[in-house]
Amino acid sequence: TSCGLLLFMLLTEFWISNESGEICDNTSHPMEIISSPKHHNQHGILNPAVTKGASIVIRNFVSTNPNYLRTLSQAHAGWIFGAIAELIDNSRDAGASRLDISIQSMFSKQAGQKVPVLCVVDNGHGMTYAQMMRMVSFGHKGPNEHCQDQIGRFGIGFKTGAMKLGRDAFVLTQTSTSRSVSFLSQSFNENKDNLEIPVVTYCKKDQYMEVDLGVQSEATAEYNLNAIKKFSPFNEYFIGEKVGLFGEEGTGTQVYIWNLDRWGTDYTLEWNSQKTDESPDSHGNGDILIRSKRVRSRPGQTNGNVPLDYSLKAYVEVMFLNPQMKITVQGSPVHVRM
Ligand SMILES: Nc1ncnc2c1ncn2[C@@H]1O[C@H](COP(=O)(O)OP(=O)(O)OP(=O)(O)O)[C@@H](O)[C@H]1O
Ligand SMILES: [Mg+2]
Repeated sequence: TSCGLLLFMLLTEFWISNESGEICDNTSHPMEIISSPKHHNQHGILNPAVTKGASIVIRNFVSTNPNYLRTLSQAHAGWIFGAIAELIDNSRDAGASRLDISIQSMFSKQAGQKVPVLCVVDNGHGMTYAQMMRMVSFGHKGPNEHCQDQIGRFGIGFKTGAMKLGRDAFVLTQTSTSRSVSFLSQSFNENKDNLEIPVVTYCKKDQYMEVDLGVQSEATAEYNLNAIKKFSPFNEYFIGEKVGLFGEEGTGTQVYIWNLDRWGTDYTLEWNSQKTDESPDSHGNGDILIRSKRVRSRPGQTNGNVPLDYSLKAYVEVMFLNPQMKITVQGSPVHVRM
């Protein structure tokens, strides 16, 4: 991640009071405590507080104010394609040979209407439960010497990138033996004192995926899935439809981001598509564009100022020179420029 170092320094300060030094490996424990089935109130509603007398070792984890998600987005101030590049880097690190980036309309219950959602779908190796916890954690021990070819270094790129692009992110991932979903969301965390990141993991049993009771209780899974269903466009059926994109026995990771920061102070995000129901007349020139509100006068130009526009396709063409992944933007293939 390009601005990783800067943010890493910020994070080092942020994490300084955590004495365990094992941030990501331990994240599951506080989350499990938060929604443990032992903590129902008399109405059967999960009580997110740990009741007194519980025989659990409570370690001094740093609590994180949900506003921290907004703070993270500052890492990519001014250049949102850099935020998309973080997601592309991660898919490349996951060994994906295919990556589809698009903006699609999905119905949002919260908004009561269809909203644009940035979709990043790869066919990499996907993530196990532990790897998914690592994805939603802040910082990690870093790659070991076996991972020299990995781009990821700091353990923050997904979080900074996603929160720059929008307020809410849903991740769906599949390995050959498991499936997980997670939800990094400013909407869900609004008015909360501590940042909560729901994760649900399923494991393969015969042909079916069942809640993995080895890593979470049934109640925890239900609580987390309900949070996702309430605050995102995704329910079991829609998730099932997206699982279909992995194909038979397929693996990979899908990231969906909405409540997009579409109207920045000096740009707007626009897109056209190759072929969808919404734009049947499109001429196969799918792209995602930043239309800058800044203007530029070229020497000899006669018709005043021309707006500065940037194309995601053009950016990806020059940024990702090693063509090991076939990338499409809004349905149209990116041709790597060597
Ligand atoms: N598309 C993906 N497929 C598989 N695993 C992923 C994917 N995206 C993220 N991950 C996992 O999540 C972890 C955290 O991702 P994140 O981008 O936040 O940090 P990083 O890539 O390790 O480092 P950097 O901050 O330099 O990007 C990754 O190390 C990887 O294990
Ligand atoms: Mg990364």
